[in-house]
Amino acid sequence: MSEKRVPEHLAIILDGNGRWARRRGLPRLMGHRAGLRKLEEMVHLVKKAGIRYFSVYAFSTENWSRPEMEVAGLMSLFRYYIRRKVEAIKAEGARIRFAGRRDRLPPDLLELMRHAEERTKDESVLDFILCINYGGRPEVLDAVNALYASGHRGTVTEADLRRFLYLPDVPDPDLVIRTSGELRLSNFWLWEAAYSELYFTEAYWPDFDEAALRAALEDYAGRERRYGGLKA
Ligand code: FPP
Repeated sequence: MSEKRVPEHLAIILDGNGRWARRRGLPRLMGHRAGLRKLEEMVHLVKKAGIRYFSVYAFSTENWSRPEMEVAGLMSLFRYYIRRKVEAIKAEGARIRFAGRRDRLPPDLLELMRHAEERTKDESVLDFILCINYGGRPEVLDAVNALYASGHRGTVTEADLRRFLYLPDVPDPDLVIRTSGELRLSNFWLWEAAYSELYFTEAYWPDFDEAALRAALEDYAGRERRYGGLKA
C-alpha cells in the first residue's frame, strides 16, 4: 500500500456478522464464522500495511445478554481460533494479547488465552489485541479500583490512571473503523479513543476486504490530526 501515513494502532469494531448471515438465509453463527475467517485474512493484511498494533472488538461486556446459544457458539469460535491458529499468528511475528474482564469467561478458554499470550510474548512485528468481555466503562472502573487498591490517595492524574488500564503500554488507537453502517463506539476504547480518527463503512464485517482496508487507510492518511489544537 502506498499511504504516506499509516496508523500505528488500528482498532476495528467487527460489526454486521448477523446481518451478513440473515441476508443469506443462514444462522447467525455462520455469520460469526465468516467473520472469523475475515479476521484471519485481516491480520496478515494489517501487518503487510505496516501497522504495529491491531485491536479488534470481538465480544463486549454487554454481549452476554445475547441468546445463550449464540454466546456459547462465540465462545467455541474463540476457543477454536486461539487453539488452532496460535502458531500461524506467531509465524506472522504477531504477539497475541487480550483486553477485557476475565471474570465470566469459561476457565478452559482463559487457559487457552494464557497459553497464547505466553507462546507469542516475544513476537514484535505486530501486537494483535483481542478485546473479549471488554467494555470501556468497566475498564475505567477497573483502573480506578486497581489504582485505589494500590494505595494511591489524593489527586489522580491521567498518567496515574493510565498505568492501570488493561494494556498501559499500547498507544491509543489512531484510527477506529466500524463496519456495517452503525455510527457508534459502543463502549470501545472509551478512554483511549479520545482523539482517534473515526471511520465508518457500510460493509458488513465478513465483506470487509483488502480494498475496503485500503480505502480506510487512504482516508486516514488524508486527515489532519490536531488533538484540540489549531489548524496549521
Ligand atoms: C458483531 O456482529 C460481531 C460480534 C458480536 C462477534 C465478532 C466475532 C467474530 C468476528 C469472531 C472473531 C473471533 C475471534 C477469535 C476474535 P453482530 O452479531 O452484532 O452483527 P449484527 O449487528 O448484524 O447482528
